[in-house]
Parts: sequence; structure tokens; C-alpha cells
Amino acid sequence: FSSFLTDTFQRQHDYLRISLTEKCNLRCLYCMPEEGVPQSPPRELLTTPEIYLLSSVFVSQGVSKIRLTGGEPTVRRDILPLMHQIGSLRSQGLKELCLTTNGISLFRKLDSMVEAGLTGVNLSLDTLDPWQFQIMTRRKGFEAVMKSMERILEMNKLGANIKLKINCVVMRGMNEQEILPFVELGREQDLEVRFIEYMPFDGNKWSQGKMLSYQEMLDIIRAKYPELRKVQDHKNDTSKTYEVPGFVGRMGFITSMTHNFCGTCNRLRITSDGNLKVCLFGNAEVSLRDILRKSNNGDPIDEGALEAMKQIEMDRRQDLNSSKLPVGSAHERELLDVIGM
Ligand code: GTP
Ligand code: 5AD
Ligand code: SF4
Repeated sequence: FSSFLTDTFQRQHDYLRISLTEKCNLRCLYCMPEEGVPQSPPRELLTTPEIYLLSSVFVSQGVSKIRLTGGEPTVRRDILPLMHQIGSLRSQGLKELCLTTNGISLFRKLDSMVEAGLTGVNLSLDTLDPWQFQIMTRRKGFEAVMKSMERILEMNKLGANIKLKINCVVMRGMNEQEILPFVELGREQDLEVRFIEYMPFDGNKWSQGKMLSYQEMLDIIRAKYPELRKVQDHKNDTSKTYEVPGFVGRMGFITSMTHNFCGTCNRLRITSDGNLKVCLFGNAEVSLRDILRKSNNGDPIDEGALEAMKQIEMDRRQDLNSSKLPVGSAHERELLDVIGM
């Protein structure tokens, strides 16, 4: 394992998340304001060859899982050729190629993605009711998302092996009534529904009152399914997994607000404008794009990336004083623990 992916807490970062765009075709209440988010000028965004080059450097150093995210990654026009290129890194050690998507325009692209080597889809879906969908996403498109979900399940029945997870952000007064119907999805279907604690981000009008905690969600589910039981999680999972005996599928909880997982976090992130980050909440970023564009002079990019990781390690400490971490969140407490402050 290359040293540049191992940080001073001995965490090996073998999972790389790459944001393909900040744009999105939905406006989920908990994520984006109606007017969308400010966009970087196109020249500042990573190009397809740059994304591929960075992916190959990280895979050569030990990254074995790449997730494409956004914004909404399928909004990027060249997502299919890009996935085919990244998929070719399977011969160099890439084991998983995953996508986090809202599913609006996934349906038509699925076959080609599977051909490219897609191994997992995390589908954002917070409601099973078309009207509620329009309220929560401020857009139409529920049928399209369902069609994508059904197509994945159908392809799996035909022998594809796409790990399907449904990401459901639970907001009080919005969709907490749907927790049980979502659990029911797993009765016959081979999928994992992940209930996510609503997190504060810049300007998303978060309030403590709107968040349902992991414990509260568990209580609601246990009241109906007393036989609910915990399943052993994998080392770097961010979610806590449960099952109802007899159900084909499972459920998980992403507990960013109440319990934390920073100590085992193995993620690296590259933003759509090419910055490397280790932490979702941290401010520390280093521009791989600038390193890459300079390295035309012959500087090896992996040395640049090594420097970037070191820089980030230093900034991480700085981060704790100035960060956007939700104050008092489990994340903040655990990070303080991890670095011994
Ligand atoms: P897999 O573990 O590969 O299934 O994916 P994932 O859960 O890492 O990715 P996904 O894009 O589906 O994200 C699910 C949720 O986890 C989202 O609400 C993210 O905001 C949250 N999340 C992802 N990474 C982190 C992290 O490092 N810290 C915290 N606190 N939350 C995260
Ligand atoms: N709190 C929790 N999860 C969120 N997501 C987006 N915004 C928030 C938030 N404020 C989730 C979406 C998507 C995933 C990448 O992040 O549901 O599935
Ligand atoms: Fe945000 Fe995803 Fe909803 Fe788009 S689909 S607004 S990126 S949560």
C-alpha cells in the first residue's frame, strides 16, 4: 500500500469519491436552494482526461473503489465514456466502480454503465409518493427514478451484480411516515435502504427539530418489527446495518449527527474543480488540478499528490479551529478524539 494514501492516523484511504459536477437536475430541500448552487467557470473544472489520469494514479497507489458523485453525476454529458475509461482500471486493481445518483436520467444509461464495469448504485430517494417527491425535490421525476430502480433490480435478476442502496434522508414533518414503507421495500427486493440523519450544510435551513436520530428511527422500526437485528458491518462502512429475518433486503443508518465513524473513514474526495479533500466537513483542500496542469513540465503527478496529502494532514489540525463541522456533532467530537485534542 502506498504511503501517500496512509495518513498519520494509520487510516488507509482506498476509497476515492470523485465529484463530476456541482450541477443537479433536482433541488432537494435538504441539499440545494431553488436557485441552485454557484457554478465554477468551465475551465476550472476537471476535464475527462484529467479525471481519468487522476483515477489511474490513485488506483496505481492502492485505491480499489471509486464512486462518482455530484451534484448529479449523470448530468455530465461525458459520463459514459468516462466510466468506460475508469472501468478499464479493473485490470490495475480497481475492484468497485460505484455511482451515487438521483436516478432521474439513469435508466437509459444503465446498460452501458454495466458494460463499463459499474458495481454499485446508491440511489437517492426520500419518498415513495409522487406528490411528496415533488415537494421534497421541488421537481417532477418520480416515475423516472422508479423506472431506474426497477431496471437495476431486473438487470440483477438477469445476472448483473449491481449492489443497490437507497439513500433516504429522513426529515421530521416531511417523510418520517415513510420509514416503514421503505423498510417494506426490502421484504422482496434485494436492496439496502439507508436512513440518513439530516445534516446541516450551508444554507439548507437545518434545525435540530427536523432531524430524526438513529435511535428514534430504530424505535419506530422496532415497534413494527420486534425481530429486527443488527448485522456485522464491514470495517469502513459509514452505515450501521440491520435486517428483518425473512426479508431479502436490509437496512442501514447513516448517523453522522449522533454517532461517528471518522476513526475508520477511508475516503478521499476530489471535487469537480479538482481539489483533494479527506473530510466532508473539513476546509482543507489542495488543488490536484493545478498540480496536474503544471506537471506538463515533467513533474510526476504522484509526487504532487503525496505533497497534497501531507498538506492536508497539516490543514486538518487547522481545520478543527475554523471548520464547518456541525458544532457538538458526533463528527466533531470524534475528530477531536482521533487527533487527540
Ligand atoms: P458506500 O459506503 O460505498 O455505500 O457509499 P457512501 O455511503 O459512502 O456514499 P453515498 O454517496 O451514498 O453517501 C451517503 C451519505 O453518507 C450521504 O448523506 C453523505 O453525505 C454521507 N457521507 C458520505 N461520506 C461521509 C463522511 O465521510 N462523513 C460523513 N459524516 N458523512 C458522509
Ligand atoms: N443531510 C443528509 N444527507 C444528505 N444528502 C444530501 N444532503 C444531505 C443532508 N443535508 C445525501 C443525499 C444523497 C447523498 C449523496 O447525500 O441523500 O443520497
Ligand atoms: Fe442534492 Fe442529490 Fe437532491 Fe441533487 S438529487 S439536489 S445533489 S441531494
